[in-house]
Amino acid sequence: MADLVVVGAAETKFGKLDGSFRDLAVEAAVAALADAGVPASQVDAMYLGTFSPGTFVHQEHPAPLVASMLGLSHVPTTRTENACASGSTAFLQGLMAVASGMCDTVLVIGAEKMTSTPIEETTQILAEAADWESEALAGATFPSLFALMARRHMHQFGTTRDHLSAVAIKNHHNACRNPYAQFHREITAGDIAAAAMIADPLTLYDCSPVTDGAAAVVITSGERAVDLGGDAVRVLGFGQASDSLSLFRREDMTSLTAARKAAGRAYAMAGLNPSDVSFAEVHDCFTIAEVIATEDLGFFPHGEGGPAAFAGETALDGRIPVNPSGGLKGKGHPVGATGVSQVVESVFQIRGTAGERQVANARVGLTHNVGGSGATCVVTLLGK
Ligand code: COA
Repeated sequence: MADLVVVGAAETKFGKLDGSFRDLAVEAAVAALADAGVPASQVDAMYLGTFSPGTFVHQEHPAPLVASMLGLSHVPTTRTENACASGSTAFLQGLMAVASGMCDTVLVIGAEKMTSTPIEETTQILAEAADWESEALAGATFPSLFALMARRHMHQFGTTRDHLSAVAIKNHHNACRNPYAQFHREITAGDIAAAAMIADPLTLYDCSPVTDGAAAVVITSGERAVDLGGDAVRVLGFGQASDSLSLFRREDMTSLTAARKAAGRAYAMAGLNPSDVSFAEVHDCFTIAEVIATEDLGFFPHGEGGPAAFAGETALDGRIPVNPSGGLKGKGHPVGATGVSQVVESVFQIRGTAGERQVANARVGLTHNVGGSGATCVVTLLGK
């Protein structure tokens, strides 16, 4: 595998923000370029991961718009869309552009502005990433699709309310230690029990929120990184896989085959095993999704992710810290930005600059970003 490194990483604060879509994308990109010590004139290509700026803020064709605001000089610009995995898809395209030798230095941005539309409209825009004819038209939304997965996991493995709550409590706790996070509020099992039911068994605190935000990274070759002299983080492996868009067509609702395949490809490329991973940023769009992710990634056997979370094995000081950033649940989920933000957090952790949420001995980080209910999955492995 080519010697690929991330030399710059930055993100905006996540939440309900005043900044526009373009402002957020530019803010993250300028900060990532500054972190890398790379001037805009040295960027060879730009990839922008974003899910639906056309419906959220009436702006299609956003990649050249953002590039021109950044002063990138007529470089190729490409927007990637893979639902909530749009950002990690952009990251993989950037990696392949450098690996192919076509580009020396690539800027990757993920951005989404989700709070401009009323919640009913936002929910429908998101549901359009499910199968419109067989799921969304029948009334399914992402909370309800993940609720079905939760029910099945509970039925098959005995996963409980307390197991799911442990994920939400942990991720809110970690987010309190992340200045970029949307929520800085510890929650308790009592808060969860008293919260509004969104899609039974998922309450408000089982759901990631609606969020504005952007994240950006600068990728180059190991050789160029030496010249730049910054604190580079190596890309050890990556994998992407797909599956049926609709949940009902899958053989198993308690595991994402795309995640298992993507993870298998990333581990094989890196020559690593799940036991080599020091921490993981996983796609906890709903609490059940984190439980399933920790099983699909090989951290725990199938069906044992819930008890492991409840026992503290995924806590900041646990055996395998999961979502030290606060995850989608606590940090927020601006869908197109999330995959890039997971890489940004991994860079901070591996550099040892994650502050109060720093994982001890963070040598190898894994990111797991899911589109839809599991139709797209991207996994990356990063390390020193
Ligand atoms: N977790 C914790 N708190 C949340 C929250 C969440 N997911 N969503 C909203 N809140 C808080 C708000 O901060 C607000 O608190 P405040 O009163 O102290 O200010 C309160 O709950 C009400 O917020 P509001 O924006 O009115 O909530 P809502 O009812 O409009 O939205 C959900 C709640 C769960 C419907 C919305 O967050 C949602 O749709 N989440 C899922 C997003 C999604 O599907 N993403 C794609 C995944 S594949």
